[in-house]
Amino acid sequence: MQGSANLNVMIKAARRAGRSLVKDFREVENLQAGSKGPGDFVSKADFAAEAIIREDLTAARPHYGWLGEESGETPGTDPTRRWIVDPLDGTTNFLHGLPHWAISIALEYKGEIVSGVIFDAAKDEMFYAEKGAGAWMNESRIRVSGRNRMNEAIFATGIPWGAKRTLPAMVQDLARLMPQCAGVRRWGAASLDLAYVAAGRYDGYWEREIHSYDVAAGLVLVREAGGFVEPIRGDGIFETGSIVAANGEIFTKFAETVRSR
Ligand code: IPD
Repeated sequence: MQGSANLNVMIKAARRAGRSLVKDFREVENLQAGSKGPGDFVSKADFAAEAIIREDLTAARPHYGWLGEESGETPGTDPTRRWIVDPLDGTTNFLHGLPHWAISIALEYKGEIVSGVIFDAAKDEMFYAEKGAGAWMNESRIRVSGRNRMNEAIFATGIPWGAKRTLPAMVQDLARLMPQCAGVRRWGAASLDLAYVAAGRYDGYWEREIHSYDVAAGLVLVREAGGFVEPIRGDGIFETGSIVAANGEIFTKFAETVRSR
């Protein structure tokens, strides 16, 4: 796809940050056996990746606003446009040497995500989309799956960890969903969950208490691949911090199950 100038800047920044993270990821694998573990090292890798992305995006578009997982929000002199960036989504996977993490970069224009890039650097899979131009992975156009039967569908989610208060809701979701479907995956990187829905690998994805920077780029990917994305309840995915996404065939049945609490 011949992307816009903005999309090219986003892809270039994702590749540069990806090179830095892949180098650090090799080091993380070496640090696993130590008693201290790779925790501090990973947080430095995360900050370094965000600094690279910010440097590239800000150099190209100095007037745009910025929202990054590590550095927070900086309003731009252009109030209509904002970058939304997670430099390392799937941090826990990265920390444990699991090669399933991604860089996620979105461009918001007047409150709508118009471009998105999700780069799985460990597998060299670059997912990207622009409003009106389709969704892509490397050189190939991607589309959501055509599965319309719940018993053949595989869904992804993020199961709450630690003391997150959404655990009871998740347990109820699973109790309703598991008997109806072919399986649920919890791979630990929300951006890739959405990219996989866009690529037809998963048939749907849902999660509660999710951050905007984890899912922003995935929104335009799923929509441009022909899928649907909505908040679980209420108005706005970012506002409610909840999301349900799926191919158009199965969306109604799947969303009904997730919403019927
Ligand atoms: C997390 C991952 C995970 C999701 C969590 C996110 P992080 O992002 O995307 O899959 O379940 O809700 O916070 O912390 O690795 O950037």
